[in-house]
Amino acid sequence: MGGPNEVRAKFPSMEEGTQEDWQIIGSHFGDFASKVADRVLDHLKLLDGDFGGFPIDRMQHSLQTATRAHRDGRDEEYVVMALLHDVGDTLGTYNHPDVAAAILKPFVSAKNHWIAQQHGIFQGYYFFHYLGQDRDMREQFRGHEHFEDCAEFCAKYDQTAFDATYDTAPLEFFEPMVRRVMARPKNSIYATE
Ligand SMILES: [Fe+2]
Ligand SMILES: [Fe+2]
Repeated sequence: MGGPNEVRAKFPSMEEGTQEDWQIIGSHFGDFASKVADRVLDHLKLLDGDFGGFPIDRMQHSLQTATRAHRDGRDEEYVVMALLHDVGDTLGTYNHPDVAAAILKPFVSAKNHWIAQQHGIFQGYYFFHYLGQDRDMREQFRGHEHFEDCAEFCAKYDQTAFDATYDTAPLEFFEPMVRRVMARPKNSIYATE
């Protein structure tokens, strides 16, 4: 962001960049990074009204997955992972779990990242056989340290979250959680103070 009169770096190529240029750019990063949660929440809202033939739309499914995880006593990081597990549906139509996993990666544990990354294959246990695919595709991961965690996520929260009569919490309930979890990266090549 910033108007036409703001101070900006002057290099035409990075090779010609200077310390001063990078001080200017660096001064903008903190503000931009601090709003990542808002950008992700805006993107999540793209799922609103997107039914794709399912009983409830993808936004309600996301909220219901998170609500079920929260009511089952999961911690905030897990609940945020649950809320965002399908956020990639719009951009990653053929690999949506990869998108969610990439967005969550700096902010969550290896376990929660793995659940987001693999949930598509584990969720397939409940429907791949109706589409001529192998419902046991997840067996390739049998024995992995997070296999049971991912199977449990799908069994308890994801595959159950299509109930139009369920008392699902609204997005506002989860927004502060998303902001807290995304306030500070645990791991990122750009994580500097
Ligand atoms: Fe999914
Ligand atoms: Fe889902």
